[in-house]
Amino acid sequence: MPTDQALFKAAEAVRAKAYAPYSKFAVGAAIMADDGKIYAGCNIENAAYPVGNCAEASAIAAMIAGGGKRITRIYVTGPGTTPVTPCGACRQRIREFADLNVTVISHGVEGEPLISTLEQLLPYSFGPEFLPR
Ligand code: THU
Repeated sequence: MPTDQALFKAAEAVRAKAYAPYSKFAVGAAIMADDGKIYAGCNIENAAYPVGNCAEASAIAAMIAGGGKRITRIYVTGPGTTPVTPCGACRQRIREFADLNVTVISHGVEGEPLISTLEQLLPYSFGPEFLPR
């Protein structure tokens, strides 16, 4: 898909800015949002390790700050040949803003991307529609 080229490019551009001095594992994430814009974010680590942010969380923050409301596609890039899949917490973060059939592309950039749906990554999930409103 041509969109994937643009998302890959955006994820790689922001990955180059990752602040990952502890793990040295730089990650980029790029979201296609419902407003037709691409929002990107990188991981931002901290000397107090658990305080670090994942790239997906940064990209979601950029989307919300930029006025996007929903994730229609998300591309994650990282080092190596193994697909860099979102961590468990980030799967739940994505769940808040994406339908279960949304495509998640996980790519260790020296290998082949893994294309999956959010539902495949997070089956039987809990989401906002479970709560009374
Ligand atoms: N990381 C992400 O930002 N996203 C992922 O999908 C996997 C892991 C970050 C967290 C930490 O800064 C580093 O990669 C090593 O786990």
